[in-house]
Amino acid sequence: MGKHTDFKKILVIHGPNLNMLGKREPDTYGHETLDEINTMLKTCATRLGLFLETFQSNHEGEIVDKIQQANDSFHGIIINPAAYTHTSIAIRDALIMLDIPIVEIHLSNIYKRESFRHVSMVSDIATAQIAGFGSYGYMLALEGLAQELAGLKPAVEHNTPYFPEKTLSVARKVGY
Ligand code: DQA
Repeated sequence: MGKHTDFKKILVIHGPNLNMLGKREPDTYGHETLDEINTMLKTCATRLGLFLETFQSNHEGEIVDKIQQANDSFHGIIINPAAYTHTSIAIRDALIMLDIPIVEIHLSNIYKRESFRHVSMVSDIATAQIAGFGSYGYMLALEGLAQELAGLKPAVEHNTPYFPEKTLSVARKVGY
């Protein structure tokens, strides 16, 4: 399916070890599983009138392949490159080729952690970066992207909240 549809299509890429969420260092990454996060994202996307596809891989090349396909099929991308954030020039090079907005997301605040996590290969080419809000950050990323794609400036400038109670009520349902 191409991207010439009535609705905007968003690709969410989860990098290595994020398939282990729930079991993996819950004090750092939270107790939710990746399936729960994806379900929450899909609910949110539906309410925002967006189509959402999620993809997880532990393999750098597979992530590069997926990014390469994104331009033709998606209007925006949310990516948590996980450990590849700090090392992968290949993922950076693939993202640079996109002409769609990119949101980099991290569950943890990488700048409060070990110094090797302070470097991101992606942040200077991303439209935005969100780090430290746990799984809620994915919803913020989706909202921000929807706003960006709708061509709106931040709600605060318009003095009219673009994302009203709907999103918040999803957040409440999933326990925030
Ligand atoms: C992470 C942070 C990375 O440093 C780490 O390697 C991850 C997850 C995060 O979401 O906080 O795997 O991207």
